[in-house]
Amino acid sequence: MKIVVLTGAGVSAESGLGTFRDKDGLWTKYDLNDVATPEGFARDPAKVHAFYNARRRNARAALPNPAHFALARLQSQFSGDVIIVTQNVDGLHEAAGARAIHMHGRLDRAICASCDHGWDTHVDLSVSDLCPSCRQPSIRPDIVWFGEMPVHMEEIAGHLETADLFVAVGTSGQVYPAAGFVSEARRFGAKTIEINLDLSDVAGLFDNHIVGPASQVVPDWVDGLLAPGGAAL
Ligand code: OAD
Repeated sequence: MKIVVLTGAGVSAESGLGTFRDKDGLWTKYDLNDVATPEGFARDPAKVHAFYNARRRNARAALPNPAHFALARLQSQFSGDVIIVTQNVDGLHEAAGARAIHMHGRLDRAICASCDHGWDTHVDLSVSDLCPSCRQPSIRPDIVWFGEMPVHMEEIAGHLETADLFVAVGTSGQVYPAAGFVSEARRFGAKTIEINLDLSDVAGLFDNHIVGPASQVVPDWVDGLLAPGGAAL
């Protein structure tokens, strides 16, 4: 049995990292065209670096919450395969001991726009920093911006085709291609569950719903799956 879990900002909300579209979400304070597009970066790279430097610092200071730990437990203890695909750019799944496919990139990586070299980074990035490989001042956070193609899509598509259960946790389902994963998994025969603080605007696409804060409902759901006979749920 294969379970594919797609996570979004809601899984990290209780670790103190803001979501995007909720009240007080990041996109209520910033114009995403300024800080999350290649055009915004071309116009004002210092502003974009400042935005991601602040997010990197917040993410480094954050700790995984019980939802991250429960998903890590599911991945290590479930008798079948558990694939975690995340839209989040923090490293909290890994900090909890899980492996996750980061389709929107990662705050703890930088890339060079000139030569494509990529490297780990835990420090602030600036416009004058040089790429350690080609020495050009063209570094950027390794984040997928609007208008760019998310990464690892072929690998994810393969998992969606072979999933028995698809679960979306803490995501509003507003951003494609991730928003299309539920329909894709369903087309290939998977059962689908949405886990969210509230029913999302796309709740109708899912077979079942678990409503509540991720830190409470995800551990309960995982306990059920790991209980004897739970895999038949
Ligand atoms: P959103 O901010 O769009 O949605 C967050 C979802 O989490 C909402 O549906 C909330 O109801 C839910 N939520 C909030 N707190 C929760 C909690 N404690 N427990 C469970 N659910 C909770 O965030 P995403 O769907 O992740 O992309 O956004 C998708 C993408 O849009 C992001 O990866 C980012 C953003 O623009 C890029 O920057 C490319």
